Amino acid sequence: MNTFEAISKRTSVREYRKDPIERPLLETLVDSARRAPSARAVEPWEFVVVTDRDTLVRLSETCDHGRFLKGAAACLAVFCRDTKYYLEDGCAATENALIAAADMGLGACWIAGDKKPYAAEVKKILDVPREMKLISLVSLGWPAEAGEQSKSRELADLIHWERYNKKEE
Ligand SMILES: Cc1cc2nc3c(=O)[nH]c(=O)nc-3n(C[C@H](O)[C@H](O)[C@H](O)COP(=O)(O)O)c2cc1C
Repeated sequence: MNTFEAISKRTSVREYRKDPIERPLLETLVDSARRAPSARAVEPWEFVVVTDRDTLVRLSETCDHGRFLKGAAACLAVFCRDTKYYLEDGCAATENALIAAADMGLGACWIAGDKKPYAAEVKKILDVPREMKLISLVSLGWPAEAGEQSKSRELADLIHWERYNKKEE
């Protein structure tokens, strides 16, 4: 699969089979994440990989929009130090992991994030220092069924050549 195919195949998957994800694959996901661009090359990220069932259930009970974590094989939690561009860096790392997961045939879903009131609780559960920022929790598992990416806006509707307001002749 080439990169554009993986990007086009990626979609949020929230139902998973029970099979575990082999450790080398999880390691490759983190390796993909940490290869993201980082403003000023600070690389402020840290990654916690969770496969323990009890911890997954605790996370699912904590994250109101991430209940499906209890059925995931793993969760990749992305944290950043509080740098100027921590959010951009952390999001770039998260997206790299999502694309790598799609390439491996894994299902994944981005669960927010540091704007959520549960961020502090997630840090407690995962024993992460308070000053770190929670960027995302990425649920992971082998998809229960095949799903397709669906985008509501067409390329032609959102692409602007040269200037935003320039109309195509
Ligand atoms: C910053 C961010 C936060 C998100 N948080 C959640 C979440 O908490 N729970 C969830 O089920 N999906 C979450 N999503 C996934 C979006 O709902 C999903 O990307 C969107 O519906 C588009 O679908 P697609 O990913 O299949 O293209 C989040 C996505 C982003 C980028």
